[in-house]
Amino acid sequence: MSAPLILVRLGTTDRMEAVLSAALDGLTIQELDAAGLPAAPVAGKRLLFAVGMDAYGPNPAFYEAIRWLRQNKGALTGCAAGLVVDGSGELYTKQAAQTLALAADLAGCAFPGKPLVEGTGSLYNQHILAGRLGLSWEETYRRRVRELALRVAGFSFPVFSRPRLLMLHASDHVRSNTVWMGRELLRMLPSTVRTREISLQNGTITDCRGCSYKACLHYAQNDTCFYGGAIPEQVLPAIRDCDAMLFLCPNYNDAVSANLMALFNRMTSLLQYHDLYEKYLFGIVVSGYSGSDLVAQQLLGAMCFNKTAILPPRFCLAQTAHDPGSARRMAGIEDRLRRFAAHIEQVLMGREKAMDGREAEGNR
Ligand SMILES: Cc1cc2nc3c(=O)[nH]c(=O)nc-3n(C[C@H](O)[C@H](O)[C@H](O)COP(=O)(O)O)c2cc1C
Repeated sequence: MSAPLILVRLGTTDRMEAVLSAALDGLTIQELDAAGLPAAPVAGKRLLFAVGMDAYGPNPAFYEAIRWLRQNKGALTGCAAGLVVDGSGELYTKQAAQTLALAADLAGCAFPGKPLVEGTGSLYNQHILAGRLGLSWEETYRRRVRELALRVAGFSFPVFSRPRLLMLHASDHVRSNTVWMGRELLRMLPSTVRTREISLQNGTITDCRGCSYKACLHYAQNDTCFYGGAIPEQVLPAIRDCDAMLFLCPNYNDAVSANLMALFNRMTSLLQYHDLYEKYLFGIVVSGYSGSDLVAQQLLGAMCFNKTAILPPRFCLAQTAHDPGSARRMAGIEDRLRRFAAHIEQVLMGREKAMDGREAEGNR
């Protein structure tokens, strides 16, 4: 059984070639490289990006492809993709994957949950799964690539007739730019989208304690966690019961705020028994000065790469606004929110059409 898959090579290594040749054996594959990407009609296809790099990071062709994707916002409309990143050292693989995922997403490409297989130089990053499967690190790497290729080839977008959208934030209700934008957006959605808002802002969210796997499993069996409280009692059940999440993320030191990060960390307990493979991830990121791309990458890294949510095309609206209440005075903000709301509705209800991409651009 094999569905057509387009293998897009953005740099390669000998080890990557050996892994791809074993992992993709018997599948129907069309091959492209960075130079071929602009000329090939890939819209609507299933893609496997393969990035091979030396110890110093990706090669110039990778960055050329990133620039091309950023310039051509509709180029990957209707696509869904996976990522294989092979490094010769221990660094830069995750950074390359997140940069590519954001650029491709803003060009219209979706990613299923857990869309990344990395091979760090030592392959030590395979050791836990290798232990569970009783395979060598190399065999585990190949098996993961094959499993990803099959999952991407067979991926289809979940569609909901009355989707449930959960908005999560940790900001001040009155002064916050992100909360104002999120509430405006919810107001613009049609009543067929059922919405719910949960605030994490009460100063009592404690970060993950890092219990043993066994202890975490024990608590998760009883739908709780070592600390108990709002996260297992209110927030995780709401995530379990929704079809899509909208995270409101102010940029705090080029990262999401501490309460949101604590939620990401404590979701391990939910994931012991419930995955997010059928749920979409959306975000609104607001930076006072710059860096919304870094925050968006952190959000997609945590919730899609690690926690299994689907990254829909153009998952994130980025805004630059600093002073309390200033977002609502930004030129064109209502229009941008309206287009993002329409986009969310189209994704959730399966009415996605070619979007022009403007709703995902920064406001400056
Ligand atoms: C603790 C803190 C750290 C911040 N760090 C950054 C930063 O690194 N880069 C940036 O562009 N803005 C930064 N800002 C500004 C916020 O991103 C900006 O004010 C945004 O509008 C806040 O959204 P909110 O009103 O929803 O909280 C920071 C603000 C705070 C309070």
